[in-house]
Amino acid sequence: MTSNSSNSSKTTPTFAVIPGGQVQQTLQGREKQIVELCEATYRLHSAGDSVNPPSYFLRFPDLPTSRIIALPASIGGDIKVDGIKWISSFPENVARGLPRASAVLILNDHDTGYPFACMESSIISATRTAAMAAMAADWFSRGRQRPKRVGFFGVGLIARYIHTFLAGTDWSFDEIGLFDLSAASAAGYQGYLERSGAANKITVHESAEQLIRSSDLIVFATIAGEPHVQDLSWFKHNPMVLHVSLRDLSPEIILASTNYVDDVEHCLKANTSPHLAEQLTGNRDFLQGTLGDFMAKPVTVPTDRPLIYSPFGLGVLDLAVGKYVYDEVTRAGELNVIEDFFHELKRYG
Ligand SMILES: NC(=O)c1ccc[n+]([C@@H]2O[C@H](COP(=O)([O-])OP(=O)(O)OC[C@H]3O[C@@H](n4cnc5c(N)ncnc54)[C@H](O)[C@@H]3O)[C@@H](O)[C@H]2O)c1
Repeated sequence: MTSNSSNSSKTTPTFAVIPGGQVQQTLQGREKQIVELCEATYRLHSAGDSVNPPSYFLRFPDLPTSRIIALPASIGGDIKVDGIKWISSFPENVARGLPRASAVLILNDHDTGYPFACMESSIISATRTAAMAAMAADWFSRGRQRPKRVGFFGVGLIARYIHTFLAGTDWSFDEIGLFDLSAASAAGYQGYLERSGAANKITVHESAEQLIRSSDLIVFATIAGEPHVQDLSWFKHNPMVLHVSLRDLSPEIILASTNYVDDVEHCLKANTSPHLAEQLTGNRDFLQGTLGDFMAKPVTVPTDRPLIYSPFGLGVLDLAVGKYVYDEVTRAGELNVIEDFFHELKRYG
């Protein structure tokens, strides 16, 4: 068997399958390392050492709320791997007792192009999403007091991972608020927070307005397809907003705020709130830049307006986290290699 680490010699290509249990076991409790990995990946991407074409959205006439997204990418540096995440979003799954999102990630060897691993990737995707949210909250609050009151707007699996990553990277909160259209989701999340010993005070808010007005850091993780938060006066205390679900805020709120994204071309697509703001104004003047720009050259973030970070979510992050999992599972000697996966290897038989 050959290994597919970037420094291996290539003889017979191998193919491994990494199930969710191994992925979770590898990533659990390593929040700080994963945030560092995501930071390094952003820096490589900002430096141009990546290929990250637009995501492809597969939609269905008979299932208008569902989609499957393909995120192909290539990342350089020490990570040096190519691949694709194939992630489904079927919101009706939640009522069936299944998570909304399911995914696989394929890793390809950069020298031969051979796929060498297929791994469960809903955990990788949630992990990298939470890591980039925690990372953004950290960078944008440097040089000022960290928010002490966090509000989670839409409390499914992604909100849970984001809380875990904030807590795992040394954030602590005096108050945690939450709001969800579903009472069952709100109760489930409250239970999770209580079990994790998260804060002195946990409040389930009756209205979106209450949650926003009482939070200095607001995390949007709903499944809204179009803006449902329109009232700028709710934001008059100028909170920091992690707009992870991308389509919650009206373009007017975007235009009245300081805006950062992870990648401009990616984020100004698919009717995200920043995309709607661009359509409304015909320009991108409302964008301050990317988180990568900010990390390379931090500037003072104005405190007299809300700060909104809208991350589209880059395939390069999935690759970086996936390769980390692959390397760790390999190091532990637990890689489940599918023998003889590539079979027709002699050109003339
Ligand atoms: N930007 C990124 O990189 C990235 C990555 C992963 C997921 N996401 C997004 O995160 C979001 C959440 O994903 P999830 O897996 O946690 O979904 P989920 O279905 O588990 O949870 C979503 C929750 O939002 C609630 N909700 C829906 N509309 C609402 C509204 N208008 N107001 C209040 N609550 C509302 C639902 O009741 C549900 O509890 C999705 O939109 C997903 O696309 C973004």
